[in-house]
Amino acid sequence: MTVLDNNIHWHNTLVSHVERESRNCHKSVILWFTGFSGSGKSTIAHAVERRLFELNCATFVLDGDNVRHGLCVDLEFSQQDRIENIRRIGEMAKLFTEAGMIALTAFISPYATDRDRVRALVEPDRFVEIYCCCSVEMCEKRDVKGLYAKARKGLIKDFTGISSGYEAPMNPELSINTEGQNLDECVDQVMAYLKLKNVIS
Ligand code: ADX
Repeated sequence: MTVLDNNIHWHNTLVSHVERESRNCHKSVILWFTGFSGSGKSTIAHAVERRLFELNCATFVLDGDNVRHGLCVDLEFSQQDRIENIRRIGEMAKLFTEAGMIALTAFISPYATDRDRVRALVEPDRFVEIYCCCSVEMCEKRDVKGLYAKARKGLIKDFTGISSGYEAPMNPELSINTEGQNLDECVDQVMAYLKLKNVIS
């Protein structure tokens, strides 16, 4: 059923997106971090948020593990559930940009079509795909949460990189080598990009 069949109508806001942005003194964008579990997505997203917060930017991090405690608590890791997970987060991130904020998302988001669907929700320069590039071998070696070991023992099914696929971005706005750089260097790379594109001044 479409929204029109359902008698649902759009209500226009009295405060525009541009007005919100100009009050915040920065552009509102989605910084979409993607990569294997353990590739550094959450760590970098939170560290970038901290830097942006210090610059008085309005920010929020949507983090895979946290969101799966609430909004997406009903979803597991089948392909269908991951598609729905990313659809919900994409819509949520879009709302944050409409509120004039910089939304940072840290989700494996393994399927290119799902990421592209989110990209299509907002104007082209408002979606920044950031690939946290780290081999699955290194992520497994780090195994911060002990999940790769469990997946190897067959205790977790559909585990990304072990028993479920990951499609690396073909043309991300930013690719961060989290295997060969330390956290500060990764954060600097994101901040430099945001300045270059006049997201922040
Ligand atoms: S996504 O594929 O739907 O984008 P999401 O980012 O929300 O995944 O959640 C990934 C996190 O859930 C991982 O960092 C890990 O801590 C945990 N997790 C639990 N089970 C799995 C699994 N089968 N595959 C990947 N991550 C899992």
